[in-house]
Amino acid sequence: MIKNSGLNVPVVTIDGPSGTGKGTVAARVAGRLGWHVLDSGALYRAFAYAARIKGVNPDDLQGIVDCDADSAIIFESIAGEVRIILAGEDVTDAVRSEEGGRAASVYAAVPAVRSILLARQRAARKPPGLVADGRDMGTVVFSDADAKIFLDASPKVRAERRYKQLKEKGFDVNLARLEKEIAERDHKDATRTESPLILAEDAFRVDTSHKSIDEVVEQVMGCIRSCLRVRPVKSTKPGIVT
Ligand code: DC
Repeated sequence: MIKNSGLNVPVVTIDGPSGTGKGTVAARVAGRLGWHVLDSGALYRAFAYAARIKGVNPDDLQGIVDCDADSAIIFESIAGEVRIILAGEDVTDAVRSEEGGRAASVYAAVPAVRSILLARQRAARKPPGLVADGRDMGTVVFSDADAKIFLDASPKVRAERRYKQLKEKGFDVNLARLEKEIAERDHKDATRTESPLILAEDAFRVDTSHKSIDEVVEQVMGCIRSCLRVRPVKSTKPGIVT
């Protein structure tokens, strides 16, 4: 296994299936700690978007390598919101759709894509610390993490959350179809050979089904404190790591 770089920089991992509130919780926890945040799903979504625009199929290894070389994925914080910029174009809304999630899940099962994005994710480990959310943060990317959290929720609650989120963003969604698509994507993410979504044996599992975001953040902060005895000292430059 490749050793992590930046071993002296603390990292907290937050893994789990879609619709568990990982992104929101990771951003809030990072804000409380004054640490950077890495949304690894956004990297997979942006990469899949770039590959599809270029017409690169998941089994086209050379195409995938070239696609990585040509695609500059940048996260920018604009008016307090994280925007995903791909080769200068704001693709946030396009990649955040359910279609974007489905495509990400397909390319994420390709070993070449995972190894290309691995270095990128590990490079995000910068002082004073990193909160990383995704599927394999605690099991593969930061297997030496200081605290590992696994967020879960019932499939029904997760579908309802995604439905609300997508509606708010103006997407035209159907709850029953969404529930089916989420179940399919979870199954794909959990059963692939390469870095499947699994609960790390040293992770804290938090069921968010009947909890507010505030309650989840408190519980997660409690887990982190018990693992790290970290004092949440604000850094001078918290932010998004690209
Ligand atoms: O977290 P998300 O829904 O934005 O992620 C989109 C897809 O990307 C997800 O279905 C699987 C893939 N992914 C992954 O395989 N590994 C990660 N660390 C993060 C996301």
